[in-house]
Amino acid sequence: MDTVAEWNPTAFRRIMGLFVTGVTVVAVDVPEGVHGMTANAVASVSLDPMLVLVCVDRRARMHEQLAVGRVYSINILREDQEPLSRYFAGRWPQTAPPEFHFHRWEHGPLLVGALATLGCQMERLLEGGDHTIVLGRVTGLHQGETGRPLTFFGGRYRHLREPDEYVGPPADEWTHESVRIYYDET
Ligand SMILES: Cc1cc2nc3c(=O)[nH]c(=O)nc-3n(C[C@H](O)[C@H](O)[C@H](O)COP(=O)(O)O)c2cc1C
Repeated sequence: MDTVAEWNPTAFRRIMGLFVTGVTVVAVDVPEGVHGMTANAVASVSLDPMLVLVCVDRRARMHEQLAVGRVYSINILREDQEPLSRYFAGRWPQTAPPEFHFHRWEHGPLLVGALATLGCQMERLLEGGDHTIVLGRVTGLHQGETGRPLTFFGGRYRHLREPDEYVGPPADEWTHESVRIYYDET
């Protein structure tokens, strides 16, 4: 077992990148339409009351939109929405944006085609170093289209895959008889 040699934010980011996450687009209504930001620093906090957190970089334009009481949404992306993740992360190479649409919803902008959307209201803004932790009260739940989630691991987008073939009984169904040990017979 090795301890990572470097001690810096890049190493921290690399290690945290081993914690697999989904990918969301956090969205707020703005006078020009909707402002969205790709985020994976998202976690559920409490069931009663229902609270969720998202960490927003102080340098992000989204940061200017943070205010207690503000309505926003957290849209959980499907795997075919990778282009939207890139676009809302400011990493879209083309001039024309990918196709997307937000529905008006009283609980926040609802991204069409997302796996699910949480409608939220900003409850508290907590200092978190170079990020602000937005603690939100969940005010609306929307289950969207069925499908697989977009995931992020090791700094790359990944697609969840179940094994195609059934390979045997689950481990808790093994019996003594089904476990065979082969010794070297020579
Ligand atoms: C997979 C992925 C996850 C991200 N997660 C976050 C996050 O949780 N918080 C954050 O502030 N930025 C995150 N970012 C970076 C922002 O999406 C990016 O800085 C974006 O351009 C900020 O948008 P804005 O400045 O238009 O508000 C993430 C980027 C990617 C690609």
